[in-house]
Formats: sequence, C-alpha cells, structure tokens
Amino acid sequence: MKIALIGLGSVGQGLLQILKDKAAYLEETYNFKPEIVAVGTASKGTLYHPDGLDIDDLLKALEARHLRHYPDVYGLTRNWDIPFLIHECNADVLVECSPTNLQDGQPALSYCQVALNSGKHVVMANKGPIAVAYSDLRAQAKNAGKHLLFEGTVMAGTPSIRLAMQALAGCEITEARGIFNGTTNYILTQMEGGMSYADALVRAQQLGYAETDPSADVEGWDAAGKGIILAAALFNKRFTLSEMSVQGITHLTAADIKAASEAGERWKLIVKITPEGGSVKPTRLPMNHPLAGVGGSTNAVTYTTDLLGEVTLVGPGAGRIQTGFALLSDLLEIARNPY
Ligand code: HSE
Repeated sequence: MKIALIGLGSVGQGLLQILKDKAAYLEETYNFKPEIVAVGTASKGTLYHPDGLDIDDLLKALEARHLRHYPDVYGLTRNWDIPFLIHECNADVLVECSPTNLQDGQPALSYCQVALNSGKHVVMANKGPIAVAYSDLRAQAKNAGKHLLFEGTVMAGTPSIRLAMQALAGCEITEARGIFNGTTNYILTQMEGGMSYADALVRAQQLGYAETDPSADVEGWDAAGKGIILAAALFNKRFTLSEMSVQGITHLTAADIKAASEAGERWKLIVKITPEGGSVKPTRLPMNHPLAGVGGSTNAVTYTTDLLGEVTLVGPGAGRIQTGFALLSDLLEIARNPY
C-alpha cells in the first residue's frame, strides 16, 4: 500500500515511528507492507518518490526540523504544492493529519477532495474536514468507491468510531456521552494533585496531547468538534459549533478543584450528544461515578443503545503513538477490504 502523508507533527511522526518499529510484525502478521511515497507540511516542504521514501531518513530530517535535510536520491521530487502532490502522486491512500481547523476544515478539506477525485482512499486524524463536511465527503467517497476513515478524530486510537459504526451496527444509538479531550482531563487531574493550570498545560503540550493552538482544548472546542463528528457519524446530523452549548475549563481555579475534592467530587469536562443537539460542560461528579475515575489523558465514551443499554469504552484520548495507531488501524482496514 502506497501512502501520502500530509501533516508531520506529533501524530504524523507517531505513524512513521510505528511503521518503522513494527514493519516486520505488520508484514508477518497481516502481510501489510506500507510504503510512504509522499509527505508534506505547510512549513517543512514536501517530498515525493514513486518508489518510496526512507522512514529513518524522514524521521532524521524531521528531527532537524525541515524536509530539506532528507538526502538527495535519484527519482526524488521536492517542494511540489500539496494539492498538486496529492493529485499527481501514485499513493493509494491519503493520510491527513495536519493541524485541525474546526471553522471551515481548510486546507485539509480540499486535500481530501483532491485525494478522492484522484482515486485515493482517505484516512484522517484531522478533525476539521469530518466535523465540517462529513456527509459531503462521505458521498464523494461513496461515488468514487473509496474509503473515508477517521478513527483518530475521536479518542485517538481507542476504537470509539469503529465500536459505534461497526461493532454496534444494528443497535440504535440514542446518546453518546463522555470525556473526549485528553488535554483538559490531564490538566484537571494534575491540578487535583497540586500542579498549577499553566504548568499542567505546558506538560500536556510537551506530551503531544494539545492541539497546535491549545485554546481549542481548554475552551472546549476540540471536545465539541468530536461531539459534532459523532453526531454526523452516528445520527447523520450536521451540527455546527455555534449550535453546541460549549464551556471549557479556563474559569476553573485551584480553589474550585479543592472544593470539589473536599466534597468527595471531581471536575470532568463532559460532552453529551443526542440527535437533538449537544453540549460540552465542566461537571462535578461524585467520586463513585464511573467517569470520575477516568484520569490523565484517558478518555471515555458511553453509548446508550436500544438493544444493549449502555456500552462504555475507556482508553487513551490523545498522544503521538496513541493517535498514530488510529491511522494504522484505518490503513489495516483498507488493506483487508480494498473496497
Ligand atoms: N488535543 C486533543 C486532546 C488531541 O487533547 O484530546 C486528540 O484529539
């Protein structure tokens, strides 16, 4: 499988690391032999080699912070524009993990459209295009006979999307509720342990949990975007950010956290989404509430279904390798079911 990888931040590098470390395992176990043929970012340039790029050399170039540090080899093309690169390259799949833009999904939305128009599957961790234009992209992918997979957009590699859309197929899901943002859950947990808000945010950024612009995390928009994605995927509903009721954690003080703790409670940023709408709200939960025990960057979702009642999934919600795995899981699905 030939891959074009757009976005080489924490998540894109996480995928490269996994493909490097697990190459032999993936080939032996799944007969999966991925080749990265094209890579690009807005700030670090682009590379294309129809016979594949060397992952070690890519990681080294990224350590040196620019793709110009990738060695010159015969057949290598540099610095094509990203849309041209996606259109012209011989990849089977576009993997899109550039920074999320929840306002209009761009420029990633147009990258996805170019990929589908030129006969490529699309896999993404970028939340923007799915939150803004899921139904249009899905229709385009269906017409093109290509996959549109987005496991990494909600709860990193913890299979929240696959659980709802595949394992629970046949159940009617009437509500999704949970903790959908790793950065804020990590900050709240650290603040309860005595760390300041500012230090906990810096640490969340260092650990690769936070968005490029972390205000999306702490003000609740990232969690709202994930709610919008679930509403689109589960209920076929198109909500906008302005239709959601959204509150982040920026107003919570060390005193608020302490007061909750003294009352046997804990603050969590809870997302609730139904076919009628959704909300993101810091909520005080009693310690014995199942979501109160979900700490650090761990996330959780509870689906309310007609046939099973409540089904809850708990797992990593952010991180380099954890989100890189989401991309791998989608790529393996395409390899198993080429369409
Ligand atoms: N910034 C996001 C979070 C990354 O903290 O949950 C995963 O979508």
